[in-house]
Amino acid sequence: MFDDPLSPSWTPLLEAAWQAREHAHAPYSHFQVGAALLTATGEVVAGCNVENAAYPVTLCAERGALSAAVAAGLRPGGLVAAVVVTDVAELTPPCGACRQALVEFAATLPVLLANRHTRRLHHLENLLPHSFTGSHFQ
Ligand code: THU
Repeated sequence: MFDDPLSPSWTPLLEAAWQAREHAHAPYSHFQVGAALLTATGEVVAGCNVENAAYPVTLCAERGALSAAVAAGLRPGGLVAAVVVTDVAELTPPCGACRQALVEFAATLPVLLANRHTRRLHHLENLLPHSFTGSHFQ
C-alpha cells in the first residue's frame, strides 16, 4: 500500500494536498506547500502553510494538517501516511519542527514527497532518528 511511492493508495492524499496548497497563504516566501495526512479511521486531513508578517508565527502545511487531524479526533498511533507537495524541482521534506510534531503521533510513518513530476518515499523514523518523545521523561 504505502510502501510503494507509485501506489494508487496515495492518490486521495495527493489530491487533498494539492488542493490545500492552492489555499496557502505565502505572500512573503511565495513558496506554497500542501500536506495531507491519512488517519487510521480513514480520514484524509489536509493543510497548507500559513505565513505571517511576524515571520516566526508562520505555520507549516504539515503542522496545519496535524492540528486539523487532532481536532478531528487523531490520537497518538493513529497516523497511517503523510504527503507533502510543492511545485518546485527539488522535493520538499518536512522541516525539523514538523518532524518532531509528527513523531508525537507516529513512531513510524511513510512520508511521500511530491511535485508535479516526481515522488520520493521517506519514513519518519529515518527523517528523525533517535527522536525525543514523552517516554524520555514520563
Ligand atoms: N514550509 C512548509 O509549509 N513545510 C515544509 O516542510 C517546509 C517549509 C513553508 C513554511 C514557509 O511558509 C515556507 O514554506 C518557506 O519556508
